[in-house]
Amino acid sequence: MSTPLDFANIQGDILEGLPKKYQTFLFFVIADATEFRHRLTDIIPLITTTVQVQADMNAINEHKAKGHTGLLKLVGTNIAFSHSGLSALGIDPTTLGDSLFTNGQLVDASAGAAGLSDPGPIVGSGTDPAWDPDFKKQIDGCILITGESQQTISERLLEIETKLAGTVKTIKELNGNVRPGDQAGHEHFGFQDGLSQPPIIGFRTPNTGEQPTDPGLILLGEKGDAPLSNITRPPWAKDSSFLVFRKLQQFVPEFNKFLAENPIPDKNLPPDQGSTLLGARLVGRWTSGAPIDLDPTVDNPADGKDPNRANDFDYSNDLTAQTKCPFTAHLRKTNPRASIVPGLSVVQDNFRIIRQGIPYGPEVNPDEAESQTTKFDRGLLFVSYQSDIGKGFHFIQRTWSNNPDFPNPGSGYDGIIGQDIFNQRTTTGMDPENVSTSLALPKQAFVIPLGGEYFLSPSISALKTVFAA
Ligand code: HEM
Repeated sequence: MSTPLDFANIQGDILEGLPKKYQTFLFFVIADATEFRHRLTDIIPLITTTVQVQADMNAINEHKAKGHTGLLKLVGTNIAFSHSGLSALGIDPTTLGDSLFTNGQLVDASAGAAGLSDPGPIVGSGTDPAWDPDFKKQIDGCILITGESQQTISERLLEIETKLAGTVKTIKELNGNVRPGDQAGHEHFGFQDGLSQPPIIGFRTPNTGEQPTDPGLILLGEKGDAPLSNITRPPWAKDSSFLVFRKLQQFVPEFNKFLAENPIPDKNLPPDQGSTLLGARLVGRWTSGAPIDLDPTVDNPADGKDPNRANDFDYSNDLTAQTKCPFTAHLRKTNPRASIVPGLSVVQDNFRIIRQGIPYGPEVNPDEAESQTTKFDRGLLFVSYQSDIGKGFHFIQRTWSNNPDFPNPGSGYDGIIGQDIFNQRTTTGMDPENVSTSLALPKQAFVIPLGGEYFLSPSISALKTVFAA
């Protein structure tokens, strides 16, 4: 028997996710480290633990069960630090043994094919990523605040800013919100998100089809934590997790235009349904969330809603034919489940992340829809948690989504997030009748990174004993 996870010691966003309709990310640089360490003591009681999130979720369920329609007032707060934040506080970031964290995300984003391949003017074998300039500045930390309203968030933000006054400088504030009406829970392209998360052993029971995942894939120092560097983690790092943040702009009218112009050529399908099918095959789920591996030809929304159906597939019935799901579908690229080709020296269960992002920006307006051109910035404030960035976010983005030769030579890119700064991106598998047909993806991708950073979301005990003073 392994020791049970200490949910009072784990920040609430990591495993459970802070309950949210709105979320603010405050990126800051530490101006006075000694004073900051003192003031952090006053912030720690405001940090929402996993135990607190579980209580909040119960309160939400009770509120709904009683038939209340309004939202329960709830606020969540988490905090995370970058490598420079650790250094500023006198903690050597290299002791954690994650070189991507130690170098920071800008280095990874600039490194071309050796890294994330973020687009931008070419510099040598890499780029100067076309990021929002604020993300090229030093960012020491991030405070994540969630709530049922922007007002609740503003109150908490003011409380924190008052407590930290003079010790930090704000670099950037970003606001996200769950989309309105029937699009709640859907990202901006219109697809239900947040359906597939690794069921962490000791945290929750797997639903049908889900593979139990060791806590150490997400939490440092727990069973299954196997850093690429082979380092022994410092004892204080136990129950912390690396937080990857990315601001990902989505070009929604352009995505819809592409679907409209490239319907899957099935003579039995009217073009609009051929376009809908192309969208589903690019993602791997219908907009409802129903997996195309279960429902390859027609959407069946009930399969997305039922937790025991939504992940009850592993591509093992479609290992080579791709009649159900293309190799390059975003879902299959980012989690190939049982379909890793023999001979490839990876074990798929080593590469899992927990995703806790939120959409940002306004809905597409009629002018944008009609002109098929983005005029307002919108997308996803992507957040993922993992115990090793090189096996989590970075691996999935670089080795799978950006790699046209995964899973097979010439399979093509993940049409949603795959990046390549030098080569025209193409993909295959979209037409179930002719899976080898190549489809050219537009030069300007549907998703463009505008910035980000790698952070550590420390355990509560680490915050108390190592970060604060
Ligand atoms: C704006 C950018 C993105 C969009 C629109 C997007 C959209 C989606 C959608 C609609 C799903 C299906 C819902 C679900 O299964 O939970 C999904 C799943 C997933 N996405 Fe993304 N995503 C984006 C970025 C990323 C990035 C950057 C990564 C990692 C590098 C990623 C990794 C995953 C993973 C691991 C899954 C679950 C796959 C599975 O377990 O079957 N996504 N995404």
